[in-house]
Amino acid sequence: MSGTPPELQDVVAEIAEAMRRRPDRGEVATYIPELARADPEAFGLAVIDAEGRVAAAGDCDTPFSIQSISKVFTLTLALGMVGDRLWRRVGREPSGSPFNSIVQLERECGIPRNPFINAGAIAVTDVILSGHQPREALGDILRFLQFLAQDPAIAIDESVAASEQRTGFRNSALAHYMKSFGVLDNPVEYTLGVYFHHCAIAMSCRQLAGAGRFLAHSGRNPATGLQVISAERARRINAVMLTCGHYDGSGEFAYRVGLPGKSGVGGGILAIAPGKASIAVWSPGLDAAGNSHLGRIALEMLTKRLGWSIF
Ligand code: DON
Repeated sequence: MSGTPPELQDVVAEIAEAMRRRPDRGEVATYIPELARADPEAFGLAVIDAEGRVAAAGDCDTPFSIQSISKVFTLTLALGMVGDRLWRRVGREPSGSPFNSIVQLERECGIPRNPFINAGAIAVTDVILSGHQPREALGDILRFLQFLAQDPAIAIDESVAASEQRTGFRNSALAHYMKSFGVLDNPVEYTLGVYFHHCAIAMSCRQLAGAGRFLAHSGRNPATGLQVISAERARRINAVMLTCGHYDGSGEFAYRVGLPGKSGVGGGILAIAPGKASIAVWSPGLDAAGNSHLGRIALEMLTKRLGWSIF
């Protein structure tokens, strides 16, 4: 942690300590049985600024299931593969519905509202899969994350993937329903297999904050100096994160935190302070919308203290 400005490390440590003491921890997700094993007392926070300085506290090096946060990276990959044609398969409007809702699909001809609700992410995964074996598509997604985070140790938690594969009846329904409208090209079980496995990638806050840096710096990862995507595309992914990244809690997140962010039911949130920092927080207890309860509160404290809201 050499070279970290004391203020940022102090703020991060203070927030982690405040979160450790709070009795309200939300509810750990149980609909994927393996996720129910997470410790509700866990809390981690990592912030990487533009210069690459890391301020981190709590369980910032403990890997957790990134779940829907993986959808930011699959969206990035799919846009790289097919460009703006992706938006024929999936919309970019907030749904105002829970992440696993099916209701809008019938009215909207099987086109999911956005790439972050489950239906939308399954459609994006189908685009990445096109013409490949599931193993190859999954390898591409995993290697992309390892490359972004500059850490080859990032891996899939097979027990979480198997747990969701056994119990993911709702996602299976969403996928079959979209298939009936011709929105998916590949066999449903292939697309779902890749989807369940990329959701089961395990990363620590430190690794996740590293992987998100290209979104904070106009598409360029300062760790490698490489332009991952164009500045325009980074801006647009951030816009979709802001409006859709927390499902029917997206308005509340924008109101309180004021940053583009993407949550996962493993309790993680990736938040982007454009030009300033990439931030990852983890606390497994969720609120009613399926977003990390203390994660959101910690980010609200952080942006308030540092004046990092984009508004
Ligand atoms: O498909 C699912 O239900 C999970 N693999 C991911 C959902 C999720 O993370 C929603 N996020 N808050």
